[in-house]
Amino acid sequence: MCGIVGYIGKNEAAPVLIKGLKKLEYRGYDSAGIAVFGDGIHVVKTKGRLADLDAKVQTMGGVEGHVGIGHTRWATHGAPSDVNSHPHTSMNGRISVVHNGIIENYLQLKAELEEKGYVFASETDTEVVAQLFDYYYDGDMVDTLIRVIGRIRGSYALGILCSEKPDEIVAVRKDSPMLVGIGKNENFIASDIPALLEYTKDYYLLNDNEIVVLKKDGITILDLDKNEIKKDIYNVTWDISAAEKGGYDYFMMKEIMEQPKAFKATISPRIVDGEIKLDNIKYTDEDIKNINRIHIIACGSAWHAAIVGKYVIEDYARIPVEVDLASEFRYRNPILDKNDICIIISQSGETADTLAALREAKRQGIRILAIVNVVGSSIARESDDVLYTWAGPEIAVATTKGYSTQVALMYLLAMKFGQARGYLSAEEVKKLTAELELVPGYIEKLLTMDEELKELAKAHAHANDVFVIGRGIDYAVALEGSLKLKEISYIHSEAYAAGELKHGTISLIEEGTLVVAIATQDPLYEKLVSNVKEVKARGAYVVAIAKEGNTEIAEVADKVIYIPQINDKFTASLNVIPMQIFSYYVAIERGCDVDMPRNLAKSVTVE
Ligand code: F6R
Repeated sequence: MCGIVGYIGKNEAAPVLIKGLKKLEYRGYDSAGIAVFGDGIHVVKTKGRLADLDAKVQTMGGVEGHVGIGHTRWATHGAPSDVNSHPHTSMNGRISVVHNGIIENYLQLKAELEEKGYVFASETDTEVVAQLFDYYYDGDMVDTLIRVIGRIRGSYALGILCSEKPDEIVAVRKDSPMLVGIGKNENFIASDIPALLEYTKDYYLLNDNEIVVLKKDGITILDLDKNEIKKDIYNVTWDISAAEKGGYDYFMMKEIMEQPKAFKATISPRIVDGEIKLDNIKYTDEDIKNINRIHIIACGSAWHAAIVGKYVIEDYARIPVEVDLASEFRYRNPILDKNDICIIISQSGETADTLAALREAKRQGIRILAIVNVVGSSIARESDDVLYTWAGPEIAVATTKGYSTQVALMYLLAMKFGQARGYLSAEEVKKLTAELELVPGYIEKLLTMDEELKELAKAHAHANDVFVIGRGIDYAVALEGSLKLKEISYIHSEAYAAGELKHGTISLIEEGTLVVAIATQDPLYEKLVSNVKEVKARGAYVVAIAKEGNTEIAEVADKVIYIPQINDKFTASLNVIPMQIFSYYVAIERGCDVDMPRNLAKSVTVE
């Protein structure tokens, strides 16, 4: 959330910054801006999308200079407007700043600076950094930055330009992501890899409060005592095409279609001759036997994947599992035992609440296993063990392949733990893994329902409310399906455990209300059919999702979508597919920007 870039080098900075920001637009898209050092610092910024900024720069005939910083914003402090857009500049125009994060004590600092005569133009927290930097500026960018860091509280990735230092950018991060791209006669900073890929595949990862001095021909990284830090160079293993739409109208559809490949990439290397090999996690069978309780912590869709995990792990491994929203866990004084473990799930590996929850659990001495998609992200680096989901870059704000690969790892962990604790035999695991290996093919088959789901979406695009019901794991998928629909189409939707509806919410069902009923848990199938009858009796239009061969439901539902016959546990990976495609087409039908839904941004790095 909020994307920043910085460039210094042989080329014109403005086009590099704008191209980089385009690749980060998923992180925020309510305003954008750049500051370029030419004959002094020129700032161009505007409310609106990157295209609006690009147009503004073109109208001006470009902005000349070889050094610059840029920003694409997801508003926190102050509404989206030209004046609240980044970069923010000190009153005298000397300092220009881009920022991702929140400066928590900005009101206090602002009051202090106002007393000293500083006049503020915007409502943002970031402007305080520009003015404070100017106040402390003593001719040395690093010394000044260290003083500023000593005064600000909160989270930040900062890129800073000074009109008296035309050949350097200084930058720092704390609890907000930032990478340093290593080029030839040019160097970069960016919030995420896609912004760098056109220019370099080599980069440094930064830890909290490491300071970067970026010059055309060199990068210096320092700690707060100005000691130089030697860093490993990381190399991006995927190609730029992975972060492009590849002929699709939206990243979301591309990523939906990539799910068979992503699922396979996540499970295949970890299933060897029917055995589960999680070699890169350091758990012995003894460790697994000693686990007292598992806390799975996540936000949003990752939290939904965690709920699938609870059902599967409790059943296969008989370990009690608590699933927590990270934003609740971190402040609720959780009771943790030394034999508990935490599983932290996050696609981006940078979600602020999830990272804070991880730190809280770690502070209490609990062993942390992370399930993360972005290699080298903060959550991956701060965990004791990491299992990567090999989904590749996920750009659309609404997750699809990220979620599916998280669920895939929930299955593998549940089976691994189940076998280590003696609840599943090697033979049973072999059978289950063979079935799991069929899932990518089944997803492929469901993806061919595209046209049918498009028609269904057309028919229901103007619904006011949609309810998604299910029992057991189907309920976990209902939560995810409902979130997909509401976040990209803006239709109000709720997910309910099917048996719970009659305890209040059924009063909202009226003639024509759309209810999606997920009915793929064999022991609960008849009960779900009864729940469908209950909502039908109140006038609902019911679309059911059922396993092939379970045709009775067609007698009560208005439409049935069939998924291949599969073990009840693995249905989560199939049921979600029609929900994703349906949501996508409803959003298209309603004219919504699928990849950049209103008010949202990917990678929520603020609380
Ligand atoms: C919804 C969605 C979000 C994320 C949530 C956590 O489609 O993508 O709900 O799942 O913000 O993000 P990560 O997994 O990056 O921690």
